[in-house]
Amino acid sequence: MAGRTAYSPTKYAALNLLLARWARKVAAPGGHRYVTLGGTELKDLSILTFIDRELASGALSIECDDGRFWMASETAKRLREDHQVSVEVLQGEFFEYRRESDEPHLFFLDLEGIFAWGRYPQLLGRFLANATLGEGDTFVVTSYLGRHPGWQRVFSTYEAQFGMLGASSESAKRDYYKWAHPTFTLFQALETEGLSGELLVCCIGCVWYRGTSPMGVWAYSFDEGRTRFTDLVHSGWSNRFDVNRGLVSYPAGA
Ligand SMILES: C[S@@+](CC[C@H](N)C(=O)[O-])C[C@H]1O[C@@H](n2cnc3c(N)ncnc32)[C@H](O)[C@@H]1O
Repeated sequence: MAGRTAYSPTKYAALNLLLARWARKVAAPGGHRYVTLGGTELKDLSILTFIDRELASGALSIECDDGRFWMASETAKRLREDHQVSVEVLQGEFFEYRRESDEPHLFFLDLEGIFAWGRYPQLLGRFLANATLGEGDTFVVTSYLGRHPGWQRVFSTYEAQFGMLGASSESAKRDYYKWAHPTFTLFQALETEGLSGELLVCCIGCVWYRGTSPMGVWAYSFDEGRTRFTDLVHSGWSNRFDVNRGLVSYPAGA
């Protein structure tokens, strides 16, 4: 049985930085329905509450593991009773969630693996197709940076994307993959559902951190409009932060 979830302080520093940027630039004044990927301690919810309790009007944490679900239920009970935080825990599959209200949603897919490869374009595509994720919402995702299926496979899989970005050298391609592979996945999901002409997606920022392994966290806003792949990648390119080195990348000319 899976045990309690525990992550490094750098993870929460990274999340804090990104959510603070989101809160200042994008967050809706009336609060959000916060839908998050499980764990037992609901630390991400504590961070959101710390920045501003009104950012989340209600929270739902979805955990697939039986044991972790029960541990999370106890944490949620404590948060409700001792700190008046509105939170529910559900045992199930994150991508089975379906939107029930028009309230702006903030999704946090707090993965331990890589947000690329596999079925993520299809899973996220379904979220977009049934309007669970859409205009006025935000999608935040973590992705593992420590391993990949081999650079040759990365280069051939994303050949078209690297071409559009004008990345010809191996080092430029590696850089784009490391800083933007979740953006590639998200754009694939939009294209799979034929929605790149109907939604304007921008990358609010990307923050790298190292806990037990190297990770990144990305945030995306969704509005009415049209998304061009290169604009989407470059929107995040200007807003990168590396917690490990304390380095921010400023937009050109700023
Ligand atoms: C990284 S942890 C979440 C930690 C939490 N955000 C925190 O900061 O305290 C991810 C959790 O999601 C669960 N999980 C992974 N994939 C899932 C899925 N597709 N649906 C529901 N739960 C999932 C895992 O069992 C794990 O407990």
